[in-house]
Amino acid sequence: MMLRFPVARPRLPTADAILPYLRQIDENQYYSNFGPLAGAVEARLAERYGIDAACVTTVSNATAGLTAALQAEARARKRNVNDGAAYCLLPAWTFVATLHAVLAAGLEPYLLDVDEDSWSLTPQAVENALSRIPGEPVAVVPVSPFGRPYDMASWDDFSRRTGLAVVMDSAAAFDKGDVGLSPAVFSLHATKVLAAGEGGFAVSTDVDLINEIRKCINFGFFGDRVAQSRAINGKMSEYHAAVTLAALDAWPQTRRIFDDIAAAYREGFAADNRIRLLPGTGDDYASSTIMITREDPLPPGFDEALAARGVGTRRWWGGGIAKQVAYRRFSSDLLPVTDWLAQRCIGLPCYPGLERDEILEIAAIVGDTLRGR
Ligand SMILES: Cc1ncc(COP(=O)(O)O)c(C=O)c1O
Repeated sequence: MMLRFPVARPRLPTADAILPYLRQIDENQYYSNFGPLAGAVEARLAERYGIDAACVTTVSNATAGLTAALQAEARARKRNVNDGAAYCLLPAWTFVATLHAVLAAGLEPYLLDVDEDSWSLTPQAVENALSRIPGEPVAVVPVSPFGRPYDMASWDDFSRRTGLAVVMDSAAAFDKGDVGLSPAVFSLHATKVLAAGEGGFAVSTDVDLINEIRKCINFGFFGDRVAQSRAINGKMSEYHAAVTLAALDAWPQTRRIFDDIAAAYREGFAADNRIRLLPGTGDDYASSTIMITREDPLPPGFDEALAARGVGTRRWWGGGIAKQVAYRRFSSDLLPVTDWLAQRCIGLPCYPGLERDEILEIAAIVGDTLRGR
């Protein structure tokens, strides 16, 4: 069904904006393998986050970047084959890619519930959970929900205290991504605020670790053609780097667009105290996702009722990863907050070109539908 307001309508750089970079590719005749355009992306991202270019690596997508970062970290923590399963802790409230990456890195997932205010893991809650893990935990993947800022220093402290590796899934957190010793991995998927179609990057102030990740996304090679570690092919092509550079050129305008969308939703829901936006939305970080919750579970047929009135919605994380058909067998804590969010949380239309008046109309339709009108 064609909806008047689809939930997402990504707008990536135009062909004209990408063309100068494509001409550079023609000239360079370099198409992948950490080419000059990927290097230029890394340099611009490093400038943005105030770190050295050696502290950034581009990757083909965040799932590959998370896999490689976990492989790199797991390698640094030497284990014996008799040690049993190496557990990796992650929140149940995340996109399924986080879990795919944990498994691809050869780790055994253990799902934890999230904090009710931040919708994410906290270092203290994870530390409290350590005694409950059935085997030996070696790593944790906290997730920044829908781009919400996070504090890497507190996770670096956690890592020092506990000896566990931390790999931050900051897939949607381009705008306010924090950098520390532990690696953070970002997505440049078409649905993200900075979009290249597919793509991603990892940052860490530990240059050796970034080099280790570069090895893990390049068949285990580093400087020669000898595989030195378990690895994948997760490199960013020069073509994706070209789109990323054009997206970076347009970032100030893109950020304003997403800020304005969030501000209009806040205005639209200001008078309805039953509906809550994810804290901070439109306040201090740009997100390409508008998520609302309310005190009571969303009524049955809610999504369909909105669709009938032209408003697209998406349960971006479904019921959380414990409910994914492929992955029901994994160990987990009890997940009351995840279950609470899954029943009350829904994504609303968010895309460049959505006007303030249209957003106020969507907010009114959502309010009316909840009131059964
Ligand atoms: C929390 C989270 N982790 C990982 C990913 C995977 O990112 P990518 O599509 O770049 O592999 C996403 C993508 O939406 C995500 O939302």
